[in-house]
Amino acid sequence: MAGGNAERIGSAAGKVILLGEHAVVYGAPAIVVGIERGATARASAADEVSRLVIGKELAVVGSDGSDLARAFLALLDACEVTAPVRIEVSTELPAGAGLGCSAALAVAIVRALDAFQDRPARTATEVGRCAMAWERVFHGNPSGVDAAAAARGGCLFYQRTADESAQAIKVLRLAAPLTLAIGHSGVASSTRAMVEHVAKLRERRREMVDRSVRAIDSLVQNAKLALEAGDTVGLGRLMDLNQMLLSGLMLSTEEIETMCRLAREAGALGVKLTGSGGGGCVVALAPDDPAPILERWEKAGFRSFSTRVEGDAPRPTVGSP
Ligand code: MEV
Repeated sequence: MAGGNAERIGSAAGKVILLGEHAVVYGAPAIVVGIERGATARASAADEVSRLVIGKELAVVGSDGSDLARAFLALLDACEVTAPVRIEVSTELPAGAGLGCSAALAVAIVRALDAFQDRPARTATEVGRCAMAWERVFHGNPSGVDAAAAARGGCLFYQRTADESAQAIKVLRLAAPLTLAIGHSGVASSTRAMVEHVAKLRERRREMVDRSVRAIDSLVQNAKLALEAGDTVGLGRLMDLNQMLLSGLMLSTEEIETMCRLAREAGALGVKLTGSGGGGCVVALAPDDPAPILERWEKAGFRSFSTRVEGDAPRPTVGSP
């Protein structure tokens, strides 16, 4: 246990799914990159009950029946916390944007709790697995891709397996750096609702959804090869095809389609929604300089930033928050 009033800190990355969202819930692989923007959690001793402070205004004390309290208690349980702890979190990631805000918070809290308890550091896989206790409360049936990216960063090829303790995670070594422009549609969306939307669609039109999942699987496999070969143009085409399939699953919106069109007009090699869709963010692969895409979006009223992914590590981000 951290002595006296010592504060312990944990942090985690946000994420951008390059290809494979939703299909990953049904066992197809996805490619995800960790981004510099993320979350931080600070742990210190509490008097009587454990407390979670999110921003200035919202504090969860013990169990109040809310999703947030249940998720927090699930994390305390997963991390085998034995003494009252106060966790204060902050994040640069907008909620409901598809940038992995919830998973980044969970991973940062797990790391802060472990440091608070003077536990030996867990592997990234173990941290991601603990974070799933929180993710399940908020998202119902999460694939684990967000938690894996938050815990590990870099560029990952991720596949869910029936046995959750044996997820297949492969770190991809990029042959060429990627410049990504990320724009917010201005509409928040709920991952749980969008995952349920696809599940309901699958109940009605199973063959169509399963065909899309298989097609996305094959795009992701090809994207892995493109990344490893440094074929950025090929990767962009695959992202465009992925967007068409996501639109077919009715996950796109008017704002997302507008942003995709603007990005292509500004020279993007490929562009698609990222995360759960129904709002949230769009990711565009820039040929080199992301400025023309960002300018186009900002002019149309969409907030945006860029990030560079090189080797297997995320690079600092620039742009508006
Ligand atoms: C959300 O970031 C990605 C989804 O595929 C859900 C999941 O994988 O849990 C939509």
